Amino acid sequence: MKTTAALSPPIALPMPQNESSRQILLAVGGGIAAYKSAILCSRLAQAGHRVQTVMTRSATEFLGAATLAALSGRPVGQDGFDTAAHPLGAHIELAKDIDLMIVAPATANLLAKFAHGIADDLVSTLYLQNAAPILIAPAMSDPMWSQPAVQRNVNQLKQDGCHFVGPDSGWLSCRVQGMGRMSDPDMILHSAREILAASDRRFSGDE
Ligand SMILES: Cc1cc2nc3c(=O)[nH]c(=O)nc-3n(C[C@H](O)[C@H](O)[C@H](O)COP(=O)(O)O)c2cc1C
Repeated sequence: MKTTAALSPPIALPMPQNESSRQILLAVGGGIAAYKSAILCSRLAQAGHRVQTVMTRSATEFLGAATLAALSGRPVGQDGFDTAAHPLGAHIELAKDIDLMIVAPATANLLAKFAHGIADDLVSTLYLQNAAPILIAPAMSDPMWSQPAVQRNVNQLKQDGCHFVGPDSGWLSCRVQGMGRMSDPDMILHSAREILAASDRRFSGDE
């Protein structure tokens, strides 16, 4: 006889209360590490933050938008020309009142576009529109990361005031050990907290 296990009642999740709620824009680029961004999105939501996610077209090859929509509780921004949802332009509306923009994973392509002011999709246009601090978590193969062109772009972005976390060295999806692994979501969250705390101190005049 087929037995059916009794369904457990829904678990009442505790409300996050460990830090003040901030508005985080999480941009996901098209690399293997995009799967870790789902964990990052969940961690940010559990910490009580309001998370707006956006994905590049390539990112959707690696991670389903439904995952980020469910984890953030909001539709995922993918189309800069979705004027039904965003009559003023998605880049204008989604950048409004942001406390921190996180780009994870940041592809070599996104680093190049940010460094050169190219705005040919929603994520790169948001980078230019956003006035809040930016935390970038690059992820790519070791040869890509070592390219002078990539390093030039990283240096330019550091000069432009962007914060970086990683990449780390370790196991890469191309099946070698090397530099280019995206930092773990908890490390990105830690960096995000430090940046938010520093901007709070600046805002309150303590710095
Ligand atoms: C299997 C696979 C894995 C890839 N992983 C990366 C990666 O980790 N980092 C990266 O910079 N590009 C990676 N790429 C290349 C990017 O997807 C490609 O440059 C793309 O144009 C990036 O688009 P985006 O920057 O708009 O997200 C990968 C491509 C494939 C097919």
